[in-house]
Amino acid sequence: MDRQGISQDPASAFGAMDRMYRFQRYFYDATRKFYLLGRDRLLEEIQVFPGQNVLEAGCGTGRNLMILAGRHSDAQFFGLDASSVMLETAETKAAAKKLGNISFKVALADDFSYRETFGLAEPFDIIYFSYSISMIPPWRESIENALKNLRPGGLLYIVDFYDQKGLPIWFRWLLKRWLHLFKVEYPEMLLPYLEQLGSQCAGHIEITPLYGRYCLMVKLVKN
Ligand SMILES: C[S@@+](CC[C@H](N)C(=O)[O-])C[C@H]1O[C@@H](n2cnc3c(N)ncnc32)[C@H](O)[C@@H]1O
Repeated sequence: MDRQGISQDPASAFGAMDRMYRFQRYFYDATRKFYLLGRDRLLEEIQVFPGQNVLEAGCGTGRNLMILAGRHSDAQFFGLDASSVMLETAETKAAAKKLGNISFKVALADDFSYRETFGLAEPFDIIYFSYSISMIPPWRESIENALKNLRPGGLLYIVDFYDQKGLPIWFRWLLKRWLHLFKVEYPEMLLPYLEQLGSQCAGHIEITPLYGRYCLMVKLVKN
């Protein structure tokens, strides 16, 4: 795994994510399946065609990428993450599954390029964020950077926590406090921001709330 632009500053996003996931990575997949809902729905939604290049920004242990790569052996999959320890786990799992069509890079979502970070000649066909937008302070810049690295007609997807307004208030209260432990927060401005992107002709946007607004799925077709 290559490292792109890693800062030695321990307060950096790289250091913060490595500290958060140093031990969690060992039980991450087993525990997150209970509350990172909508990920499988997203994976069903994403249509990958032969020869396409697909990127997950904030891929963690690579769980989603490995499901897609197993389904589409004729496409290439790429993952980036701020945490090198999460990617060590991802690489070990991908090797154990003998998936030769995935590669991982340590990089920040707001600061990668298809050419320099991944050595590709063309922008990605599909880029998706699965429960990473709610952990990335510069989430607007990360979405803008994803759009820059997507070809015209390419697809951008997001699945992440929503406002849970269709669920009981005690549940919302508990979930908010639980997520706070992991520095996770639904960005209230996400939907207004996406609507603004749509009106600025970045592309056609569909927003689908899921499970009583527990989470949302966003699909943007880039103009
Ligand atoms: C909640 S996990 C989601 C992992 C995976 N996408 C999934 O669905 O299981 C969020 C991931 O985003 C990564 N992350 C946080 N900030 C980031 C940033 N600025 N750039 C890239 N990755 C980041 C974290 O290291 C972590 O692996």
